[in-house]
Amino acid sequence: MPRGYFITFEGPDGSGKTTQLRRLAAWLEADGHKVVTLRQPGGTSLGDRIRSILLDSQSEVTLGPIAPLAEMALMFADRAQAIDEIIRPALDAGAIVLCDRYTDSSEAYQGAGRGLGSERILAMHRAVCDDLDPDLTLLLLPSLEASLHRARRRNQRNARQKGADENRFEREDDSFYERIYHAYETIAEREPQRVEAIRDDATIEQIEQRIRQIVSLRIPAIVV
Ligand code: TMP
Repeated sequence: MPRGYFITFEGPDGSGKTTQLRRLAAWLEADGHKVVTLRQPGGTSLGDRIRSILLDSQSEVTLGPIAPLAEMALMFADRAQAIDEIIRPALDAGAIVLCDRYTDSSEAYQGAGRGLGSERILAMHRAVCDDLDPDLTLLLLPSLEASLHRARRRNQRNARQKGADENRFEREDDSFYERIYHAYETIAEREPQRVEAIRDDATIEQIEQRIRQIVSLRIPAIVV
């Protein structure tokens, strides 16, 4: 059985990556491809628990402050479980795996945002992710102002409608998000063969078309 394809979506909060991931999945599935989608943190039962600890802004009320290294280690614990339980088996079965965030998020948020540095994140990746790198990463980088505005509005809406609150990260100040943004730019420059950055504030439909073109060009075997 040939190995499938591993595509990750990256970008700051509110960059629109989740919408684009869903649209790409539907497009590929409509053409008969087997597609597996997941998000990080989350996706497995263990990962969902880790997600609620890491993202719920009430966590630190009950647990106390979460140390940056603990936050990093929990992100990788989530990732290790997802690789073992979902990603590897799906790739071995020849599926296209679309993953909403992966190690680049740890490098941007924990490495740059929390100041742990890229080296430590990349060493953790080598230790935990078993050499599993994406074939392609779609990095959505609309302007920082646009994505921050969208992320904060969405969180307020979710908190009102569902009582759910995933804004532990979104309480951070603008300089945290500037560091994340620049880290993503650095990753794209460092690894142009893997990372395709989409930098503008185009419409959802325009970006969707760009993503289809990129996927077709970069991975001809899955042209639809
Ligand atoms: P999202 O599912 O809405 O993208 O939210 C996930 C949040 O978790 C987002 O604020 C980024 C953060 N995160 C990290 O800080 N490090 C990581 O490694 C991952 C996967 C996510």
